Amino acid sequence: MHPMLNIAVRAARTAGKVIVRSFEQLDKVEVESKGTNDFVSSVDLNAEEAIIETIRKSYPEHTIICEESGVSKGSDDDYQWIVDPLDGTTNFVKGIPHFAVSIALKVKGKLDQAVIFDPIRGELFTASRGKGAQLNGFRIRVKNHKELSGTVLATGFPFKHKQHTSAYMAMFSALFTKTSDMRRAGSAALDLAYVAAGRVDGFFEIGLKPWDTAAGELLVIEAGGLVTDFAGGHNQAKSGNIVASSTRLQKEILKELRPHLGDALNK
Ligand code: IPD
Ligand code: CA
Ligand code: CA
Repeated sequence: MHPMLNIAVRAARTAGKVIVRSFEQLDKVEVESKGTNDFVSSVDLNAEEAIIETIRKSYPEHTIICEESGVSKGSDDDYQWIVDPLDGTTNFVKGIPHFAVSIALKVKGKLDQAVIFDPIRGELFTASRGKGAQLNGFRIRVKNHKELSGTVLATGFPFKHKQHTSAYMAMFSALFTKTSDMRRAGSAALDLAYVAAGRVDGFFEIGLKPWDTAAGELLVIEAGGLVTDFAGGHNQAKSGNIVASSTRLQKEILKELRPHLGDALNK
């Protein structure tokens, strides 16, 4: 295993322990609102601290970009860790056991290493640039569907961006009528990991942040899939609008989204 992936795994497992311990005593977890329908708990903060500590110990010179504590610039900005300590906070605070730790490493602007860890199921999704993607050490691959018929797509509702509700519902409706079914499980990181593992056939969501998608994006690519923005370009890290699936299914998904994008989402 690449030494930096090894550190990412160690950090994710340590954070996973913090998260599971608190999940067993949910009544003691403090939750605060940090924006519209956007919450942060004491667990997000504790897990993030554990991750930063683990990375810092081995790579004190690297930059770390975290959801909760922001950017801490290192002397070597070529190496950037992108961390979501707890993806699926709403599930976590409601007691729904579906959430993950997401850690990615970018080297000179390119995604290089990725870990998504589901601490409840003990599922560790990993990817290294050019080396494929794994679940608990076993190779995973994106399902290679050619058409929407028979597929199950994952998605996230735009609950932090309700101005896009009607455009989103139009997209959902266009896709729902052509697919077998849809899933809204509540963790974008796991949605992407599940695309990589072929558990769902594709994923789309509006307005995600780099820490929601960085690790998942590398997983999907290394599992043989494609990741784009809603216009089919590669602006997804900036726009936060993301589509992921197999190369052939991606075209079909983008075709259904296109009539409903308007200027705001055509990126
Ligand atoms: C959220 C989850 C959710 C997605 C949200 C994300 P958080 O991350 O990934 O599935 O729909 O848009 O912000 O806030 O739980 O880390
Ligand atoms: Ca997140
Ligand atoms: Ca989070």
